[in-house]
Amino acid sequence: MANENDKNLLNVVSTLLNLIMFLLVLLIAMGILLYHYMPDYVSSIEVKNVASNSSAINATNTEPKDSVKYWQAPDIATLEGNSNKDLILYGKDLIAHTSEYFGENGKIFNSSTNGMNCQNCHLDAGTRVFGNNYSAVASTYPKFRARSGAMENIYKRVNDCFERSLNGKALDTASKEMQGIFAYIKWLGKDVPKGTSPEGSGLKKLAFLERAAIPENGKNIYSQKCASCHQADGLGLMNGDKTAYTNPPLWGEHSYNDGAGLFRMSNFAKYIKYNMPLGASHNSPQLTDEEAWDIAAFVNSQSRPHKNIKKDWPKIEQKPFDHPFGPYKDEFSEEQHKYGPFKAIQDKIASFKKELNV
Ligand code: HEC
Ligand code: HEC
Repeated sequence: MANENDKNLLNVVSTLLNLIMFLLVLLIAMGILLYHYMPDYVSSIEVKNVASNSSAINATNTEPKDSVKYWQAPDIATLEGNSNKDLILYGKDLIAHTSEYFGENGKIFNSSTNGMNCQNCHLDAGTRVFGNNYSAVASTYPKFRARSGAMENIYKRVNDCFERSLNGKALDTASKEMQGIFAYIKWLGKDVPKGTSPEGSGLKKLAFLERAAIPENGKNIYSQKCASCHQADGLGLMNGDKTAYTNPPLWGEHSYNDGAGLFRMSNFAKYIKYNMPLGASHNSPQLTDEEAWDIAAFVNSQSRPHKNIKKDWPKIEQKPFDHPFGPYKDEFSEEQHKYGPFKAIQDKIASFKKELNV
């Protein structure tokens, strides 16, 4: 009897021992798993904090994918049955293939632009997140713009890019082409509440460098990371039948003029940081902040068409920190307004604004 009991006890003990062994193995396995996945999780939180600190120079190439719900363009398929469908699609085509209409061999007004497409800078016909998209245009125009010192509607803003980014002629507001572009831009932004800009609109913010940007540095990086497509001479490459650029120019006669948005260092640096080399995105940038600013300095030091912009910025205290042409209300040089460092200039401009409000 006693033996039987001992045997039973032994059985129970060995079962318990097995169970404990099993739990131990499980714990160790979980530990290993946690060790593998936690560091990623923890460091991704750290990177996010760094990225949101505007003064940090964040030179990472591995920014994590985030969980923000970004704006998405309406689906083209939903245009079925829309009485404006043809006009909207015409507008989209004009944005994507501008040169086929207005370029050297354009079918509407040939040679009335430099041959670039709107889409070269407003990626995916103005729908790409942080690809200089049009999501906030319908919701925020007409608006006051300090550059002209006047209220501007969408027509005026579109023609600004025709005259500056495309270094060309403005369109007649009543033309079918302008009406198409207008209809397309309105339709893209139709679900965005008035007065707001959705997540991912326009261009993504980029921290300032603490130093001036250095064109010489930019030149080296340009030859490594950009010249293969945009060419060593910066003039880009046209397709076989010369109806469009396969790789658009970054300077020279056929590039944007010195009154254009990209001629401002901050716009250029933001655009390339999150979109170039082709294939980069806000989730997988391929340039460090320093590279982006230095390339911007290099490209915007090359020759390009000149625009008479004497009437721009009628109130000089409203010139942006990186407007490279004086006179200025502050004491900083044209050179510093062009290449930086920008923080001191921006602080000064903020103090003017404060004075005006008092
Ligand atoms: C060389 C690059 C480039 C090209 C080509 C270009 N744009 Fe632009 N565009 C810009 C930049 C940069 C901005 C933002 C400028 C700024 O905020 O100062 C902009 C701004 C705009 C805006 C206002 C966006 C907003 O949210 O306020 C509209 C509308 C626009 N462009 C339309 C067009 C159209 C239409 C074309 C073609 C006819 C075109 N652009 C071609 C660079 C370009
Ligand atoms: C693999 C080819 C490729 C590489 C490499 C590349 N780009 Fe581009 N880039 C393009 C194409 C193509 C477009 C036009 C995009 C479109 O129309 O959808 C473009 C557009 C641009 C634009 C706006 C249009 C213009 O011409 O002003 C800028 C600015 C630009 N790239 C700068 C750069 C810089 C700076 C680099 C290097 C860091 C770079 N790109 C590397 C192919 C490339």
